[in-house]
Amino acid sequence: MSEHILLVCGSLKEESLTRFALQTVERFLLDKEYTTSILNVGDLNLPIFDPDQVKLPVGAQSWIEQIELASGLVIGTPEYHGGFSGAIKNAIDYTKTELWKDKPIALIAAAGGYRTGINSLNGLRLIFRNVYARTINEQAVCSKYDLEEDEDGDVDFNEVMLGQLYRVAEGLLREMQFARQLGLIRSDFSLANRER
Ligand SMILES: Cc1cc2nc3c(=O)[nH]c(=O)nc-3n(C[C@H](O)[C@H](O)[C@H](O)COP(=O)(O)O)c2cc1C
Repeated sequence: MSEHILLVCGSLKEESLTRFALQTVERFLLDKEYTTSILNVGDLNLPIFDPDQVKLPVGAQSWIEQIELASGLVIGTPEYHGGFSGAIKNAIDYTKTELWKDKPIALIAAAGGYRTGINSLNGLRLIFRNVYARTINEQAVCSKYDLEEDEDGDVDFNEVMLGQLYRVAEGLLREMQFARQLGLIRSDFSLANRER
């Protein structure tokens, strides 16, 4: 069974640089014949998390199932006011620690400034440490200054940023391999036999 990688976009913006970076990482993963999907956190339509809310919203159930099914995740966030997106944090608040335990995770961010965005990754790193996920060291922060246009007018990341995003993808695959060797990846998982 092929392993599935979930790429999560924490920006709701239509022309999101975070999503563009995730699509670039996805290209690398597809080349290595992994199955992937990009999840826009905004599409989950999650209200602000309320612990008193007894029934999980449909979007939260779908979010949890997608995390469960993923052998690895790439979390992409825009940097907002020196931190990661509130939409991501709200979505994480709908989940339990057990869901994340030992999940290989890669982090990428999009920021407005050249060489900013690191705070959002540090923030996410703390959260994922707290839920015992296996966050890899490789990470990337991109901005519009990392984009370039070719002679046909097509826009893509420059070589340096492509290299960084490629290393993030490679790092995630390495961690997934390690997790597999340790028996931490549940590749036999199916929605049909899942216990809640
Ligand atoms: C509310 C808000 C706050 C922002 N704060 C920062 C910031 O603190 N540092 C930074 O480098 N860029 C900041 N930016 C710029 C975004 O990080 C940048 O536009 C990035 O491309 C957003 O990702 P997206 O295109 O995927 O939405 C901010 C943008 C918004 C809308």
